[in-house]
Amino acid sequence: MNDLLTIEQLGRSGIERILDRADEFGGIAAREVQKVPALRGKLVINLFYEASTRTTSSFELAAKRLSADVISVRSSGSSVEKGESFKDTVATLDAYDPAAIVLRHPRAGAAALMTRWTNAAVVNAGDGAHAHPTQALLDAQTLRSHFGSLDGRVIWIVGDVAHSRVARSTATALNLLGARVVLCAPPTLMPPMIGMALGCETTHSLDGLEEADAVYALRMQHERMRGGDIPSLAEYARCYRIGLERMRPGQVLMHPGPVNRGVEVTGAAVDSPASLITRQVSAGVAVRMAVLYELVAGSELATPRAAEVAA
Ligand code: NCD
Repeated sequence: MNDLLTIEQLGRSGIERILDRADEFGGIAAREVQKVPALRGKLVINLFYEASTRTTSSFELAAKRLSADVISVRSSGSSVEKGESFKDTVATLDAYDPAAIVLRHPRAGAAALMTRWTNAAVVNAGDGAHAHPTQALLDAQTLRSHFGSLDGRVIWIVGDVAHSRVARSTATALNLLGARVVLCAPPTLMPPMIGMALGCETTHSLDGLEEADAVYALRMQHERMRGGDIPSLAEYARCYRIGLERMRPGQVLMHPGPVNRGVEVTGAAVDSPASLITRQVSAGVAVRMAVLYELVAGSELATPRAAEVAA
């Protein structure tokens, strides 16, 4: 594998291979020295054109725990603000000869485009509303550690499906691992045919939520809305907000973060023992270590890029 652009490219066996390795790396967190030398001397660059707390910090930590050098570049405060193009920014960073570039970008397809301009392994850390494969892997890892296996588990993903790259990637990963995924959103936040495209059931109501083993709430993605998608946040919350009163005992709650408390989920639910949200964050480090390890240390197994073959 040269790059990680989508979850689909991994298939069930690829996902399981990465999660198994993440389990091994998870053990490192318990050691006194939380580092392995696997990527010593290699450079990992985080290039973020959109806001991020969890994804950027966990990629940084993952790279450091693998002993790589790390540079994190955010578009705000960089030469992007002076008008530098995406291509020129990538060319500049590529001059440092990185082993991997982790990219978050507001445009769908940006990570795939970047593979044309660099020989570094490209990791898609979110491209528009398209894909967020490492979030899907850490979600799968969190559920797998909680339930043991996802086969036959029922997961409801509730909220702004239309603008969510997490919904697309996580639903796909959970399906591939044998879960049954139900997408629940108001009609205006559920793209037509998405259920068929992702192999999920869809519904516009929380009726039946009790069948879920896990309830996955999505953030309202205001930054991608053009206005008019919902009557009001209060009306949305009345019909779709996940609170303890809507959950049955034994169900677990997940959310990719950042949470809008009181909108898609209540603060009480986030802070309750049913919540796996902080476990998702910790799983993110081991999963991203496994991804960087596979792409960089495992690159002897990778197939050469067209650019390399031509060279
Ligand atoms: C998600 C994202 O950026 O797509 N956040 C994340 O990576 N933890 C979800 C979101 O922003 O709502």
